[in-house]
Order: sequence, then C-alpha cells, then structure tokens
Amino acid sequence: MIKNTRSAYGAVAILFHWVMALLILSMLGLGLYMVRLPQSDPAAFTLFQLHKSIGFVVLAFAVLRLAWRAVNPSPRLPADMPLWEKGVAHLGHTGLYALMFLLPLSGWLVVSASPWGIPTIVFNLFEMPHLPVPGDKAQTEALAAVFHEYAAYFLILLIVGHVGAAFKHHFIARDETLKRMVSVRLSHTA
Ligand code: HEM
Ligand code: HEM
Repeated sequence: MIKNTRSAYGAVAILFHWVMALLILSMLGLGLYMVRLPQSDPAAFTLFQLHKSIGFVVLAFAVLRLAWRAVNPSPRLPADMPLWEKGVAHLGHTGLYALMFLLPLSGWLVVSASPWGIPTIVFNLFEMPHLPVPGDKAQTEALAAVFHEYAAYFLILLIVGHVGAAFKHHFIARDETLKRMVSVRLSHTA
C-alpha cells in the first residue's frame, strides 16, 4: 500500500516520517554540538557544511512530504479520543511541519546575511546560492541566528511532547496510533 487511507498511513508517508525524524534529530544534535566548538577547531568548517547540506535535504523533503500529504487522505485519529486531544494533536503536527520549513529557511538566512560570506557547498557537490538580503546584514544575521536557535529549542519541546503522546497511545491507551506509523502491515488490521 503506497498511499494513505482514512485508517492507515501508506509506505511513502511512513518512509518520509522516519527518514525525516532521523535527519531532524541528527541535525539538532549536530547543531548544538558544532556551535560549541572553538572556531579554531579543524572539524568546525566540515561540520557546518554538513549541517547546511543536510538542512537543505530536510527542506526539499519537507516540500515533497507536504505535497504528498495534500494528495492523500489523512488517517483519522482514534474515534474515542476527546476533542481537545485531537485539537492538540493537530496543532502539534502543524507546529512540527512549520518548523521543518522555518529551521532550514532561517539557517539559510543566517549564512546568507553573514559578513563572512562563506559559501554553502552541498555535500561537496554544488554551491547553494545565498538568499538576497536587503538592508542591514549584520542585524539580519543576528536576528535570524536567534530565531534559528529558539526555533530549534521549541522543536525539541514539540518532539518531546510528540514522542510522549505516541508512547501514551501505545502503552496506556493501547491503540493503533504508533503501530500504524511503524508499518503498513501492522496498521492494515485497524
Ligand atoms: C532541520 C533543519 C535544521 C535544524 C534542526 C537545525 C538546528 C540547529 C541547531 C540546534 C543549532 C544550534 C543553535 C545554537 O545553539 O545556537 C543550529 C545552528 C546553526 N545552523 Fe542550523 N538547523 C537546521 C538547518 C540549517 C540550515 C539549512 C542552515 C544553513 C543553510 C543552518 C545553519 C546554521 C548555522 C549557520 C548555525 C550557527 C548559528 C550561530 O552560530 O549562531 N541550519 N542549527
Ligand atoms: C522519534 C520518535 C517518534 C515517534 C515514536 C513518532 C511517532 C509518530 C506517530 C505514531 C505518528 C502518527 C500520529 C497519527 O496517527 O495521527 C506521527 C506523526 C507525525 N510525526 Fe512523528 N514520531 C517521532 C518523531 C518525529 C519527529 C522527530 C518529527 C519531526 C520533527 C515527527 C513529525 C511527525 C509529523 C509531522 C506527523 C504527522 C504526520 C501526518 O499525519 O501528516 N515525528 N509520529
């Protein structure tokens, strides 16, 4: 089953979910690690380039994932879930989707406004152009960097809530929510 149904995620949505979860969690770890390295560290340049390269992959996947979501039905949440919980789940998912765009875009703005003008060579293959930055570049860079940092902290909070909710569904409510994001086969019985 490639596409979603009203009761189950299809293979494409499941693949997008877990590949992107892995990439985004790695990016959070990498970002927090690399900014703590001294500027003189010989690994810093390579790690920043890797962070930027994976970030552009996340951005591209986010576009494809939302497009795929738009042409698929979304599986319904469990019928016995209270309305407020459904609202919180939708709000949480919207926040996760929004941050999948806002983090790469704000990071792109940081490097585009930076007075250092360091190019981004995606996986050492091709140069990603900088965004046009009108006005005060130093101020834009500072604002974008603060936004990028706090958006990352907010994303961590959302992920903790998201994973907590998934475990609550699985171990307390004992419903199909986690199973259907793990495998098409497991969810097909739902
Ligand atoms: C899923 C996407 C991304 C995530 C989760 C992410 C996460 C992070 C995190 C956690 C930090 C450390 C923040 C801090 O403590 O100051 C960081 C820093 C940084 N990121 Fe990203 N990032 C993403 C995408 C990008 C992209 C696409 C670029 C550039 C094209 C980028 C450029 C930067 C830069 C330049 C810094 C250092 C900022 C500074 O020195 O203040 N990031 N990122
Ligand atoms: C690592 C542990 C994770 C677990 C156990 C997990 C579990 C789940 C489950 C069970 C669902 C299905 C919810 C439903 O049926 O309505 C889901 C959906 C979703 N997850 Fe995760 N997730 C994890 C990580 C992440 C991460 C890191 C992100 C992104 C930052 C993410 C983003 C999403 C989004 C956007 C949806 C909504 C999909 C849709 O219906 O369009 N997840 N997750």
